[in-house]
Parts: sequence; C-alpha cells; structure tokens
Amino acid sequence: MMSEPLLTDLDAVLATAWAALEAGARQAKHPFHTPVVATGGADDCDARVVVLRRASPERRELAFHTDARAPKVRLLQACHTTAWAFYDPAAKVQVRAKGTTRVHIGDAVAEQAWARTKLMSRRCYLAETAPSAPAEEPTSGLPAAFIERSPTALESEAGFVNFAACVTTVARLEWLHLAARGHQRAAFAWDADAAQWRGTWLTP
Ligand SMILES: Cc1cc2nc3c(=O)[nH]c(=O)nc-3n(C[C@H](O)[C@H](O)[C@H](O)COP(=O)(O)O)c2cc1C
Repeated sequence: MMSEPLLTDLDAVLATAWAALEAGARQAKHPFHTPVVATGGADDCDARVVVLRRASPERRELAFHTDARAPKVRLLQACHTTAWAFYDPAAKVQVRAKGTTRVHIGDAVAEQAWARTKLMSRRCYLAETAPSAPAEEPTSGLPAAFIERSPTALESEAGFVNFAACVTTVARLEWLHLAARGHQRAAFAWDADAAQWRGTWLTP
C-alpha cells in the first residue's frame, strides 16, 4: 500500500491550510479557487460556488465578490454565520471555514477590491437587471454594447454601485486529509481573548 506522509503537528496543519487558501486566491487553476459558500437562515439555507478573491491568514479573512443586488447579499447580511467549503482532489484535502461575513458596498474596502478587478470582471456589474430577476427569454442581462467586448475603464465605473466585496472573518477552520493509512482531521477555533488559534485533532 502506498503511504503518504502524515502531518503530526497542529501548527503545521493550520499553516498548510492557510497556505492552500492563499494559493487558491492567487491561482485561477488552483482547486481552492472556486469554493462553495453556504448561508443559512431560520427556515431556509442556500449554497453556491464563488471565486475566492482573497485569503489573509493575518486577518483571518476570506473574500469573494458579488453583485450588491443578488439575493445572497440579503442572506449574508441576515445570517450570523457563513460557511465555506474547499476541496483539492489531488492533495485529497478538504478545508471548511466558518465565520461572520461583512458585505462591503461603496466603502473603502469595496473601493480597494474594485481597484484590483479586471475590466472583464467589471462587465458583470453593468447588467441592467438584478441577478435572479426572472426573464422572458435567455439573457445575460448585459447591455448590448458589452456582449462582444469588455467595457473601457471609464465605462466600467458605472458598475461600482452594484459591486459588493464579501469578507468573512474566520472563527473556525477545519482540515480533513483523506489518506490510505487512515484519514486525518483537525479543527481550529479562534480564541478571541488570547488572540490565537486553539487546535485539536478530531476523529475523521
Ligand atoms: C465557477 C463559478 C464561479 C462563480 N463565482 C461567483 C462569484 O465569485 N460571485 C458570485 O456572486 N457568483 C458566482 N458564481 C455564480 C453563483 O454560483 C450563483 O449561481 C449566483 O451568484 C447566484 O447566487 P445567489 O442566488 O445565491 O445570489 C459562480 C459560479 C461558478 C460556476
């Protein structure tokens, strides 16, 4: 049986998990680039794939971008906890993260995130109708002028009012490694009083 090296140090596990999240934010082809983000309410829940735009171990933050008019914005604002799930099939590693999410619209955080977006990405925020609005026929919602081309920098600025940067401050992070010699699982909870992570191994 092939044996893979197993991690035995909780600090190393935590560092590995955050390094993978940072790589996911940086590299479009990294499997952590497109996680699932879940929201829950008193009587409903939902989950969707997003693009991981930023991961910051120092600030314990994960961020994605969305349209301020999208239904998920109301869900993110209403629910106390947002859950993220990532899976890397080659490494056989799942990372789950939970925390509270702040939706930034029109503020300094949104401005900073907007400044880093490409013109092609900004095009989505120029859609004339809100995401999830019913339509009589198939539609991208984009103005006709931007179906075949990206907006110019000047044209793209009209999209900023519809741009939302959603930032989760992670309070709990869980790592699961599927291994032939037995799976490994560890969980980390942020201890706000001590300002440090508290880790523990879990039975997978
Ligand atoms: C690969 C992929 C990446 C996506 N990235 C985003 C994203 O970064 N932000 C976003 O709002 N929707 C993204 N979507 C679309 C969402 O999964 C979802 O369909 C849409 O945002 C509507 O979600 P809502 O009804 O919860 O608002 C992505 C979908 C896929 C398949």
